[in-house]
Amino acid sequence: MNQTLDTILQRCSVRRFTKEQVPQPNLDAILRAGCAAPYGGFEPPVRLIVVRNATVRERLAQAEKEGVDRQWSHKPDEEKYWNLFFAQAPALVAVLFRPTSVGGFDASSEERIGLCSAACAVENMLLAATSLGLGACFVGPMPEAKAAFETILGVAPPWEFIGFVAVGHSAEPTCEKKPADRKNMVQFLD
Ligand SMILES: Cc1cc2nc3c(=O)[nH]c(=O)nc-3n(C[C@H](O)[C@H](O)[C@H](O)COP(=O)(O)O)c2cc1C
Repeated sequence: MNQTLDTILQRCSVRRFTKEQVPQPNLDAILRAGCAAPYGGFEPPVRLIVVRNATVRERLAQAEKEGVDRQWSHKPDEEKYWNLFFAQAPALVAVLFRPTSVGGFDASSEERIGLCSAACAVENMLLAATSLGLGACFVGPMPEAKAAFETILGVAPPWEFIGFVAVGHSAEPTCEKKPADRKNMVQFLD
């Protein structure tokens, strides 16, 4: 093993954070890792917006809550608000993508290339946070909240919001242990 593989295998989703700010050099390194990810097309179809302001995070939480209420009006509060933890993270990186403009592909292929590129940036940021001793989780919010999030974040077409990388100092005791392998995810066609 090496340090890179150790980081990949150690990474786990962290959903509880202390109130301590993410030091600026660490946040810069996480963003740099996100921007260094592979992408499809001639230029990266990915944008990152950093949200640290507590009032903006509160507005995002309120938008998520309203989206959840519209979607799951019949569910009790303790069952439906599980994703609101994201707004407690001291730093949120909103991830945006757009369809690539390579040309010659149909719209859904161009959208897929944009989404895959965003996924690469997300994983790079999660790994960077892990390597710096921070906790992070990717949060794909309630679809009903997407339009409200885009308004709050100032996102306009062709850009689309896909989710947040929530980052902070972990307030969780340990990472949940990963299964030794995930053999059912891999097939060899030798
Ligand atoms: C596309 C995507 C969407 C996700 N959305 C959420 C989410 O909305 N809320 C959440 O708590 N975790 C979310 N996660 C994190 C997954 O729950 C987590 O990665 C998975 O359970 C595996 O656990 P691990 O990250 O600790 O290995 C998401 C992950 C991905 C890749």
